Amino acid sequence: MTPIFALENACYRYPDGRLGLAETTLEVRERESLVVLGANASGKSTLLGLLGGLIFPTGGRVSAFGAELTEAALEDGEFARSFRQRVAVLLQDTDAMLFNSTVYDEIAFGPLQLDLPGDEVRRRVEDMLDLLGLRAVADQPPHRLSGGEQRKVALGAILAVSPQVLLLDEPTSGLDPRFQRWFVELVIELRRAGKALVTATHDLHIADVIADRVVVLDEQHRIAAEGRPHDILTDLDLLLSVNLVHEHAHVHDGQLHIHPHTHLHEHEHAG
Ligand SMILES: Nc1ncnc2c1ncn2[C@@H]1O[C@H](COP(=O)(O)OP(=O)(O)O)[C@@H](O)[C@H]1O
Ligand SMILES: [Mg+2]
Repeated sequence: MTPIFALENACYRYPDGRLGLAETTLEVRERESLVVLGANASGKSTLLGLLGGLIFPTGGRVSAFGAELTEAALEDGEFARSFRQRVAVLLQDTDAMLFNSTVYDEIAFGPLQLDLPGDEVRRRVEDMLDLLGLRAVADQPPHRLSGGEQRKVALGAILAVSPQVLLLDEPTSGLDPRFQRWFVELVIELRRAGKALVTATHDLHIADVIADRVVVLDEQHRIAAEGRPHDILTDLDLLLSVNLVHEHAHVHDGQLHIHPHTHLHEHEHAG
C-alpha cells in the first residue's frame, strides 16, 4: 500500500543556513498514529512543515499519496485542493491560525473554502461546537479565549474540513492536565474514525498513550531511533542522549519515572 507520506533522504536548511532537519528517510502509513519525540530545536516543527507542504526539502524528496510534494505541485489547483483537504496542520503557534472575528466563523472558514452547501457548513460547525464544548463561546472573538479554548478552536477549524491526516505540532504544550486528558480522548475518537496522525511533542506520557510508533529526533536533527512506544520509552540511555529526560529518571516495573531536579534533596533524605 502506498504510504501517506514518504521522506527519502529529505533534509531542510533554513534560508539563513541553519539546519532544520538532517537527511531523513521515513514513512507515515495509513491510519497510524506516529509520534515525533524530540527536545526543543531537534527539528519536530521542521519535519511537520515538510509533511504539511508548508516548506519544501532543500535536499532529497518528500512525497504524499504517491506524488512528490513540491512547490510547483502545490501551485497546481487540483492537487493543492485535494492535498489541503486531506492533510491538516495544527501549528505550534495556535495564535497564527486564528484570524476570524468569532469562533463560529473560524470553524466555518475551512468548509466554506470547500464550496460546501450552506446547511452542510452549518452542520459541520454545529458538530464541532458540540464535540469541542465551545457552544457557549461561539460568538466570541477567538483571541479573547483561554489558551486551551484557542487550541480547541484551532482543532475545530481543521477537523471541520474532515481531513484524512492530522499533523499536530505540540498540541498539549502549556495546557493543563484536564486539556491533556481531553486531547487523549479526542485522539482515540479520531483513530476510531480511521484518521492518520503525526503528533510532535516532547511529552513522553502523551507519546506513551497515543502512539502506535515513535520516531525520536536528536539534537543534530537526525532520527536517533524509531520503534514501538514501549521500547522507545523504556530506553533510558536513548532518552538521556537526546535530552528528553535527565539523569534522575529511571525505569521501574517497565514504566518510566521522572523526578524533577528540584526534589533531589528530598530524595536524599527519604533514601
Ligand atoms: N525560521 C527559522 N530560521 C532559521 N532556523 C530555524 C528556523 N526555525 C527553526 N530553525 C532551527 O531549526 C532547528 C529545528 O527547529 P524546529 O524544527 O523548530 O525544532 P522543534 O520543533 O523540535 O523545537 C533548530 O536549530 C532551530 O533553531
Ligand atoms: Mg517545534
